[in-house]
Amino acid sequence: MNVPDDVLDLARRAREITVLTGAGMSAESGLATFRDAQTGLWANQDPASLATPEAWEADPARVWAWYRWRMTLMTRAQPNAGHRALAEWSEAGDAHLWVVTQNVDDLHERAGSDVLAHLHGSIFALRCSRCGQDADAVGEPLTEPVERLDPPVCVHCGGLVRPGIVWFGEALPQDALERAEAATLSADLVFVIGTSGIVYPAAGLPIMAHHRGVPVVEINPEETDLSDIATATWRVPAGEALPALLTALRENTA
Ligand code: APR
Repeated sequence: MNVPDDVLDLARRAREITVLTGAGMSAESGLATFRDAQTGLWANQDPASLATPEAWEADPARVWAWYRWRMTLMTRAQPNAGHRALAEWSEAGDAHLWVVTQNVDDLHERAGSDVLAHLHGSIFALRCSRCGQDADAVGEPLTEPVERLDPPVCVHCGGLVRPGIVWFGEALPQDALERAEAATLSADLVFVIGTSGIVYPAAGLPIMAHHRGVPVVEINPEETDLSDIATATWRVPAGEALPALLTALRENTA
C-alpha cells in the first residue's frame, strides 16, 4: 500500500506525536464500533438505555450483563496489525508516541504500547458504584450473551460493582484528560485514528492542536466531523495504514 506523500512527510519530521484512537482502531480486531449503521454496538440499542448512570440505577443486572459480555469479547480479541505497528513505531525511538485512547479495551497495551490516557476508562478497571473503591471480583466469565446478570458485590461496603468506564453524562477522569491535553499541547503532530469525532471532550483535542498550528493527520475509511480540520486525511483502515506507514518510515531512514 502506498503511503500518501503528505502523511509520510509529516510523520517523518515529527518527534512528539500524540495519537488519539477510537473504536475504529479495534474494528479489525473484531470489536464493533459504536456507530456503524448496520453493525455498530448501538445499532439496535439506545445508548441511553445502557451506557448511563440512570440506566444502571434502573436496572444494574441488564447493564452489567451487557458489559460483562463486552468484557468477554474484548478478552477474546487480539491486537491487530495497526495496534502492533503503533507499538513498534514507538519502540523504534525516532519519535515519541503518546497514545490517548477513547477505547475501554486493552488492545494497545497488549500490543506493547504504553497508553498515556484511557479517556473513557477501562472496562476491566472495576469499582464499587457506591463507595468507589477498586474491585477485582468480576464473577464467572460469560461464554454467551445473557439478558441479565447480577453484578458482583463490593467487599468493602456491599454496593454493586460496575465497569470502570465513563458513561454518557459522567465526567472524564481528570488526570487522564490533563495528561492527554498536555501531550496534545506539546505534540508536533497529532494522529486521529478510528474515531467519529463526535464525543467531547476527546474530539476537542485534535481541534485544540489544529488551533495551535499543529498538523493533524486523520486515518479513517470514512469522512468524520474532524476531517475538516485535518491537514491530511488517509481513507484506509488503521490495520492497513499503520503497518504501511511504519514500513515506509523504515525505508526512509534506511
Ligand atoms: N480503521 C480506522 N477507522 C475505522 C475502521 C478501521 N478499520 N473501521 C471503522 N472506522 C471508523 C469509522 O469510520 C468511524 O468514524 O471508526 C469510527 C468509529 O466511530 P464511533 O463508533 O463513533 O467510535 P468512537 O469515535 O470511538 O466513539 C467515541 O463514543 O459511545 C461513546 O464512549 C464511547 O468511546 C466512545 C465514544
